[in-house]
Amino acid sequence: MTRNVLAALMCAALSMPLCGCGDAPAAQRDAVRPGNALSPAMIAEGRRVFRFDTFGDEQVWTDRLRMHEVVQTIDPLTALAVGLKVDADALPPGILASADLEDPATTVALLKLNAVVGVRATVDADNRITRLGITCALCHSTVDDSVLPGIGHRLDGWPNRDLDPGRIIALSPSLSASAKAIYNSWGPGKYDPRFNIDGLSTPLVLPPAYGLLGIRNETYTGDGPVSYWNAYVAVTQMGGHGNFRDDRLGIDIRQSPDLVTPKLPALRAYQLSLRTPAPPADSYDQAAARRGKAVFARNCMGCHVGGDGTDNNSGRLHAPAETGMDGAYATRSANNAYRTTPLRGLWQHPPYFHDGSAATLEDVVAHYDRVRGLHLSPAQRAELVEYLKTL
Ligand code: HEC
Ligand code: HEC
Repeated sequence: MTRNVLAALMCAALSMPLCGCGDAPAAQRDAVRPGNALSPAMIAEGRRVFRFDTFGDEQVWTDRLRMHEVVQTIDPLTALAVGLKVDADALPPGILASADLEDPATTVALLKLNAVVGVRATVDADNRITRLGITCALCHSTVDDSVLPGIGHRLDGWPNRDLDPGRIIALSPSLSASAKAIYNSWGPGKYDPRFNIDGLSTPLVLPPAYGLLGIRNETYTGDGPVSYWNAYVAVTQMGGHGNFRDDRLGIDIRQSPDLVTPKLPALRAYQLSLRTPAPPADSYDQAAARRGKAVFARNCMGCHVGGDGTDNNSGRLHAPAETGMDGAYATRSANNAYRTTPLRGLWQHPPYFHDGSAATLEDVVAHYDRVRGLHLSPAQRAELVEYLKTL
């Protein structure tokens, strides 16, 4: 009975026909090219969508999961403990000094200010939350902790590795005990974007949404270009009110009006504008990193090619065994293989690999040394780690 609780809820809510037919709509294809699409106006609109647009997903988070009732009772300290972040720039000066972070009323006040990253709420005159939905920023933004841990300026595109989406969803009163057990098993920084489709659970590490300019296919399994995946997530995971179709997966969801598809080009432009954050000064040893680059060239560039660090731009994917990966997640996706992950901002987002099986860059290197029989010396391994820190 773990199968497909959220999907069952969504399908019941949306009466979605599940069938496969025809090509992906044009907006999901890679229609927007770098150069002609990254106009400032488009990027600004995409930023608004990324941060604040729920695509009408209140139909799931409010109507089905009843999260508005749950959030009404949660104090800010508890919310921060499950990884929710507060946008300091949305707060009037001085408000935090007098705010009671143990009072759920403060959570409602923060939501009224639109200060909780990735969560949108409508609050009535009696301070009751009547509607609640989520945005892309929930999982793909964090803050710089400049005010307090969990409170600061937004960092869009940085995966929120403190966020425990499963634990949050499991608070819903609408779920069965067995579904809650699965959601609770994922842990911080992870989410399974197919659990509600196939009922299986092999959670993925939340990836960065920065550094994607020039990357041909998104996701760990290279399922399709950025707008394909954005539409998939907005409709099938967030519960947005719109269309998504993938004949490979046998999914065809249509909801009118479509609040997703028209926003995809701007959303894409914004994501492509998000640059990889540079490593902090003095966070690596420059001389060792230079030597590590040579180790990388000999042992890693067969797959992590070019400036983008992925051979997927020429269409290649890899069987799980090639890199010693657990294949369970790949078999659930369209291509049954893994994309060579573009290497960007590695210093910023441990753990590594789709399932987070390498906690540190040292673990990454030890993994490859073992599964690909590289026989690197301890010095070479250390130099390779220093190089990876520069990417
Ligand atoms: C509940 C958390 C969650 C939300 C909300 C969410 N994502 Fe994701 N996102 C994920 C996970 C998990 C993956 C990894 C999926 C995979 O690779 O198969 C992912 C993958 C991605 C990727 C691929 C990155 C890469 O390296 O190829 C992009 C881009 C992205 N998401 C953008 C978005 C956008 C835009 C939205 C809003 C429409 C969104 N996400 C909403 C969890 C989330
Ligand atoms: C045979 C192709 C291949 C070779 C050779 C290869 N990689 Fe990879 N790399 C991949 C694939 C595929 C993934 C995605 C695996 C996954 O997430 O399960 C990956 C993922 C990674 C990641 C994780 C990135 C992230 O954001 O999670 C790092 C780091 C990495 N590789 C570094 C290296 C280093 C260092 C070497 C050389 C010692 C190397 N790779 C050699 C194909 C390769």
